[in-house]
Amino acid sequence: MNKKTVKDIDLKGKKVLVRCDFNVPMDDNQKITDNTRIVAALPTIKYLLENNCAIILCSHLGRPKGECKPEFSLEPVAEELAKLLGKEVIMAKDVIGEDAKAKAQALQEGQIMLLENVRFHKEETDNNPEFAKQLANMAEIYVSDAFGAVHRAHSSTAGVAEYLPAVAGLLMEKELKFLGNAIANPERPFVAILGGAKVSDKIAVIDNLLEKVDTLIIGGGMAYTFFKAMGYGVGKSICELDKLDLANSLMKKAEEKGVKLILPIDTRIGKEYQEDTESKTVKYTEIPEDWEGFDIGEETIKLFEEELKKAKTVVWNGPLGLFELNQFAIGTNRIAKALAEANCTTIIGGGDSAAAIKKAGLEEKMTHISTGGGASLEFLEGKDLPGIQCLMDKE
Ligand code: 3PG
Repeated sequence: MNKKTVKDIDLKGKKVLVRCDFNVPMDDNQKITDNTRIVAALPTIKYLLENNCAIILCSHLGRPKGECKPEFSLEPVAEELAKLLGKEVIMAKDVIGEDAKAKAQALQEGQIMLLENVRFHKEETDNNPEFAKQLANMAEIYVSDAFGAVHRAHSSTAGVAEYLPAVAGLLMEKELKFLGNAIANPERPFVAILGGAKVSDKIAVIDNLLEKVDTLIIGGGMAYTFFKAMGYGVGKSICELDKLDLANSLMKKAEEKGVKLILPIDTRIGKEYQEDTESKTVKYTEIPEDWEGFDIGEETIKLFEEELKKAKTVVWNGPLGLFELNQFAIGTNRIAKALAEANCTTIIGGGDSAAAIKKAGLEEKMTHISTGGGASLEFLEGKDLPGIQCLMDKE
């Protein structure tokens, strides 16, 4: 990575503003249901503590749209963090208001505080320079550790870097190393598995990966658009009729590039979108009119498993079926298991595929699970991301 990190500058005893992605899922009682992103921020926070920094953390949570809504308060995150660190985390009542400013001013070396949800101000998502300046005024150095939000050009993810020396945190460094190396320097064969409902969500990533991979495996709802493009009926399965030409051109591009494009050869279909619906497996060419495809079938699972055995690097983004419903989670779970057993580098794009790996209890078996959902997808698309671009380059 050619961006400076916390290790490349002298930050001993300095006041540091750290942008984290503490956008964690919570239940109706504001109880955190998955603390992965908080745990992932610990290495940077500990490193800054070892260097006697005064640490001002900030993050967004959800999409409060510029309003101060209590259900989007970061207070539960401060509590969880304090528990994980065994150390007080001072919670500010606001973001750039009197309370935050006074607390930031009084913050001593070795102390940690957390600002309220930056999205309580609409200026955050507008990337308002004045708001960014106010954030920057609280500290001497800016550390970006919010990989999950690097695709957002917001005040706290990018704008603030105009006013402070800006470096990557250790989580950011790790994400860029694993995702970056997989794309730029993969050990081959390099296989990508892409799932998810719609081709339209994945066009750019398919297009970019066709330049890089040896094999591209496509599953999930997307596959039905490809079947339709090949001229087969897909019944009531999800299908983007306006993307058939695109599916055909992607298949053509794969052929031209010599990339092995593998689509499902059978599919698990159901009558309705509900857990106990009647279901059966059919060939991909034989989906009846009043049935809906919800998962890959057994023959497809075997086909994908064989391919994964040969791989040296695998990147996976998107579930291969409707994994929220148990009877249609089989394909996704079996592929997660195959990856856990594979003798290769396994990189999991965040979001639903990460959730599937966690649900199956296989986190420890993967080389890297990204904390970014949308961010990892945009990274795999090969885009320049504002939250990375704004950081200082290594000399
Ligand atoms: C995420 O959960 O993907 C990130 O925190 C970004 O959130 P956003 O999509 O609301 O910007």
